[in-house]
Amino acid sequence: MPMLKISIISVQPKMFEGFLTESIVARAVRKGACEIEIVDLREFGEGRWRKVDDKPYGGGPGMLMKCGPWFEAVEYCVGEKVARWEGERARVDDGHLRIIMTSPAGKTFTQRDAEMLAGISPSHLVFMCGHYEGFDARIEALATDKYSVGDFVMTGGELAAAAMVDSIVRLLPGVLGGGPQATASESFGRDGMLEAPQYTHPPEFRGMKVPEVLLSGDHAKIEAWKRSEARKLTERERPELIGM
Ligand SMILES: C[S@@+](CC[C@H](N)C(=O)[O-])C[C@H]1O[C@@H](n2cnc3c(N)ncnc32)[C@H](O)[C@@H]1O
Repeated sequence: MPMLKISIISVQPKMFEGFLTESIVARAVRKGACEIEIVDLREFGEGRWRKVDDKPYGGGPGMLMKCGPWFEAVEYCVGEKVARWEGERARVDDGHLRIIMTSPAGKTFTQRDAEMLAGISPSHLVFMCGHYEGFDARIEALATDKYSVGDFVMTGGELAAAAMVDSIVRLLPGVLGGGPQATASESFGRDGMLEAPQYTHPPEFRGMKVPEVLLSGDHAKIEAWKRSEARKLTERERPELIGM
């Protein structure tokens, strides 16, 4: 039984086919580190045409996602856990369940969020992928968390959910070859800085040489070089990360 179950609710479930068969996520599922279910929102659509959207009150362009299909789809994923209501928000009294709405209005997702979500164990993460002009505002009552993947607008939440799921799943024990060390030394890892530049064969390509120290075999010097280059790179490209 995997320690992490992920449910992704979407009107475009086919968008996840390659993601689930070709990626590191596929490997994690094969290894039993997690289980992923893709839930087609249209299964919960209304009427003969399985309607999941409607015109916004007060006018405006495009269509909005309706409450009914979303509440039913989330309740299908989480069972009774979300069935109790307090005021206008669903009460999720299970600390192992997170219901994550994708939205440009959400908190910007970071490596710290990926680590936090990968660290809840056992856990069930439910991702809500919006579409069209977005969600009826009442659907937000279902969410325990609301995340954006950056200050830009996409057509749907599928790529946002896939990006977040990938970054979470690769942190699960046993998924990456190098273990925790493999991710601790990466960008935004242990010290929060960017990773130092890396090189592979050949030692010289079109006049560009690999730094001498990396060919020296002196591990202490190499480590010191990596730390110093990581700091320089972070100061140059992302100074706001220093000291975070
Ligand atoms: C076209 S967008 C809706 C945009 C919305 N009308 C607005 O102006 O904020 C449709 C859906 O794509 C997803 N989405 C779009 N951009 C996103 C982002 N930067 N991060 C996370 N989800 C995003 C959300 O699920 C959203 O409901």
